Parts: sequence; C-alpha cells; structure tokens
Amino acid sequence: MSAVTEATVESATPVLEGVDLVKEFAGRTSLFGRASSKVRAVDGVTLRLHAGRTLGLVGESGSGKSTVGRLLLRLLDVTGGEVHLGADDVTRARGRDLNQARRAMQMVFQDPYSSLNPTMRIGDIIGEPVTFHRGLKGAELDAEVDRLLISVGLSPEHARRFPDEMSGGQRQRVAIARALAPDPKILVCDEAVSALDISIQSQILNLLLKLQREFGVAILFVSHDLSVVRHVSHEIAVMYLGQIVEFGPADRVADSPAHPYTAALLSAVPEAKPSHRRARQKVVLRGDPPSPSRRPAGCPFASRCPAAFEPCHETRPEHTPVNGGGTAACHLQTQGPKLGGRSLPIELLRARPDEAPSAAD
Ligand SMILES: Nc1ncnc2c1ncn2[C@@H]1O[C@H](COP(=O)(O)OP(=O)(O)O)[C@@H](O)[C@H]1O
Ligand SMILES: [Mg+2]
Repeated sequence: MSAVTEATVESATPVLEGVDLVKEFAGRTSLFGRASSKVRAVDGVTLRLHAGRTLGLVGESGSGKSTVGRLLLRLLDVTGGEVHLGADDVTRARGRDLNQARRAMQMVFQDPYSSLNPTMRIGDIIGEPVTFHRGLKGAELDAEVDRLLISVGLSPEHARRFPDEMSGGQRQRVAIARALAPDPKILVCDEAVSALDISIQSQILNLLLKLQREFGVAILFVSHDLSVVRHVSHEIAVMYLGQIVEFGPADRVADSPAHPYTAALLSAVPEAKPSHRRARQKVVLRGDPPSPSRRPAGCPFASRCPAAFEPCHETRPEHTPVNGGGTAACHLQTQGPKLGGRSLPIELLRARPDEAPSAAD
C-alpha cells in the first residue's frame, strides 16, 4: 500500500475506538474474609479500528487482551475511559442503543466446541442472529443462511447438521458465519485459531482475510502468538500488564521491535525459515509478570527486562515515535545508549551473564 493511502487510512474516522480504557476487577476475598486489593486488568489502553483493516493485539496470557476486547464490545462496563462506535459515544449505552451497538460488533471465540449450542442445527445457529437483528424470515432467511455458509467455505447442506457432526475447523467456520450474520462493521477474534491444528489455523486465517476483503469489516485479532498475529494484521499493539507497550505497522513491529518485551515475544516464536532462524537470537525472559494488583511504579516490564537501567524502576516511560512507524514506551528509546528512535540492537537484550536462564527457553 502506498504512503498516500496509508495516510488516508490513518486520518479516516475509526469505526471503533477505545480511549484510555481502564478496567478494575474486585480482588477476590481471602480465606479470612479480607478483600484483597483490586486487579487493574486494563490500565489506560487507547486503540482504533478502521474499516477493512486488522489490528493485532498480542501479549502473554493475563496481559489483559480479552478484557480489552470485551470492553470494546460493551460486554463489560469500563472503570474508566470511553468507547466510540463511529461518531457515537457508546460507553454507557443501554437498552436499544446497546443492542444496536452490539449488532455492529461481533466476536469469534477460541473454542468452537463450547461456543456453539450442541442442541441446535447449524442453520438455526446462523439463522437466529439474522432474524433477531435483520428481521429476515422464511425463504429469505434460508437464502441468507445458504449465502453465509457458502461465504465461509461450507455448503448449504451443512445447515441440517449439528455441531458435533462437524470438525473443529468447520465449527470455527460456523462461528465466523454466525458472527457475520448481523452484518457487523467490527469483528473481534479472541484466540480464534489457538485451539486448532496448525494446518487448519492457516485455512481459517485465510478465510478471515478473504471475508475482510469482501465485507470490509474491521478486525481486532487477539492472540498470544505473534507469528499468527503478524500474518493477518496491518498494525500490531503489544500488551504487557494491562498496558500497550509498543504499537506500529505489523512488519516494523515484527521485524524491528523497539520494545524489549516485543523482542522477547518474537524470540519465543519458532521461525520457519532456517535463514531467519540463524539471524534471530534468543532473548531470555526472567520470572513472571508482576501481579496486576501490585503494579510497579516504573516500567511494568522492568523487573524482567534484560536491558533495564536506573530510570526503568522509577519512572513509567511515555510512548515515543519509532523510526519506521508507530511508538514504544521504553526508556531505552529516549535516554538509553543513544537509540534515538531506532529498533533495539540485539546485544542489549541478551541475558546478562550473571543471570540464570529461564522461561523463554
Ligand atoms: N472477571 C474477572 N474477575 C477478576 N479478574 C479477572 C476477570 N477477568 C480477567 N481478570 C484478570 O484480569 C487480568 C487480564 O485477564 P485477560 O484479559 O483474560 O488476559 P488475556 O486475555 O491477555 O489472557 C488477569 O490478571 C485476570 O486474572
Ligand atoms: Mg484472553
């Protein structure tokens, strides 16, 4: 895509926007009846989805990705921040307004086994939202179900089957057809291929790309797997402990990460091409992320970062521009050894010799 087109897309009104989203969950009550402190699962996340574009949201389990997805879809109420659907502020929409908003935003979940009602025929699973949101009945409804089945690579004959008569990949196609049934503007795919075999994964990813070209939906693609995310995303946002630590064009983020956490996620991904495999060196991540109920004062990643230096433990880094596009929230970018917006030299990220190797191995 040319630079001009990119700029146009950037300035166009997003179809869905989350501004400074915060979500706190009440801490669980302990054995002795004392309430533990609140869990801040999402801590000031801003992101925008554009028609016909995919934003990848990647991070380890527990980083807050699913919570962001559920806040955007208004399946959860925000603690702070706003959700805008086009020009409408839907943060506190209720009743009919909320129903209308939900029609525009659909979700595809990880597990196609538990997300489809086993007692319903495929035709009814897909037909229900068509009738509910668009009022189609009878022959019109049947024709629409057939069209949806065909668009996800199934055939009209599948309408009579039950979910347990289909494979995992076929069920995920049904889940996608059901999500597309209300004719949504936005699709949130939360670990949508993570439960599938590798060969089936790529079929489903290609299907999503095809459907996006056909229908122009904006996609938020949530996954812990950066190699999967980069395959389908135009932009990537990297989450750590409830915050976005890096954002930018998918190729820039995946080829030249500016945040040590992104580099660590990348080195955990097995590389298919041997030439790439040699070039990539392992970044060792020590320990677990801090608990979301006990956030550090400085950079959330400082306790595990192989390149951390003094300011990282004291001051939270701001997002600053990275060469090649996007931003990273990392002190190395501004006060480190003169990176000046460049991506990280790998030497900086190798484990220090006095540290024991761990998790990412
Ligand atoms: N309903 C809930 N009640 C309490 N804590 C929750 C709830 N949902 C998520 N969390 C916590 O919020 C954090 C982020 O979870 P989640 O959004 O599911 O992360 P991810 O999708 O990246 O794995 C985790 O610490 C998780 O335990
Ligand atoms: Mg999740």
